[in-house]
Amino acid sequence: MDEKKAVTASAGTSSALLELSHVGKVYGGKGVVTTALDDISLNVRKGEFVAIMGPSGSGKSTLLNCIATIDSVTGGNITLGGRVITRLRSGELSKFRRDELGFIFQDSNLLDTLTGFENIALALTLKGERPRKVEQAVSDLARKLGIEEVLQKYPQQMSGGQRQRIAAARAIVASPQLILADEPTGALDSKSSAVLLEVLESMNTSMGATILMVTHDAFAASYSSRTVFVRDGRLFNDINRGDCPRGDYYQRIMEVMAFLGGDLDAR
Ligand SMILES: Nc1ncnc2c1ncn2[C@@H]1O[C@H](COP(=O)(O)OP(=O)(O)O)[C@@H](O)[C@H]1O
Ligand SMILES: [Mg+2]
Repeated sequence: MDEKKAVTASAGTSSALLELSHVGKVYGGKGVVTTALDDISLNVRKGEFVAIMGPSGSGKSTLLNCIATIDSVTGGNITLGGRVITRLRSGELSKFRRDELGFIFQDSNLLDTLTGFENIALALTLKGERPRKVEQAVSDLARKLGIEEVLQKYPQQMSGGQRQRIAAARAIVASPQLILADEPTGALDSKSSAVLLEVLESMNTSMGATILMVTHDAFAASYSSRTVFVRDGRLFNDINRGDCPRGDYYQRIMEVMAFLGGDLDAR
């Protein structure tokens, strides 16, 4: 390769917030060995909303869990904000996750004994924020995200969609560098999915959140600004939404899915 070009390329990637470099993940030792991730290199810039799509078993959750430092890579490196997170010591991991990341899972994982308000507030309280500041931050966010009516309810009193919106608010309230979502609409009906995706979209466009969302649903991916396709643990394709209307972007995602095959969902 042209040496000058190579230098420019690597200088260009330094503006990435998240940088995956030749990431590999092999499960198992003796006996059955599964290569879940095979040489994945990917950059995510600050302010992007990236969807990771792929068939079931393609390595999406493994990829997200390696970025989340919940799982460890067996090859390559991941950096967030210039910090190599694949080499954090075990004592640093929980602080890193609490301070730098926000999480949204398929099952909202709210604490049942706390109200919606308290679930959101907890992320700030754990960081030692003052009660008045916490109250203000949670109220402001609830107004922006349209979840004021469920703040005083307990998770069991909420619909699945309301729980996921509380989980989204909890993920962003402490202003993490990166929000990670694994199939956040996986347990929701199509109407609640659309409402949650609008919440994620607004967290991205009006609040500047950088989001990485794993999904096997083209409809969910169509709310992102970029879709990255994974198959058999490898990156397959990458499409940018640009200024394209959501409907057209959805069609383009569907076209790539047709090539990929597998059990991807379409709506
Ligand atoms: N803890 C584990 N031990 C062994 N194999 C695993 C483990 N987790 C995932 N795998 C395997 O890794 C591959 C990718 O899984 P996963 O990342 O969960 O896929 P996806 O989220 O795209 O459905 C699959 O073949 C799966 O069986
Ligand atoms: Mg998964």
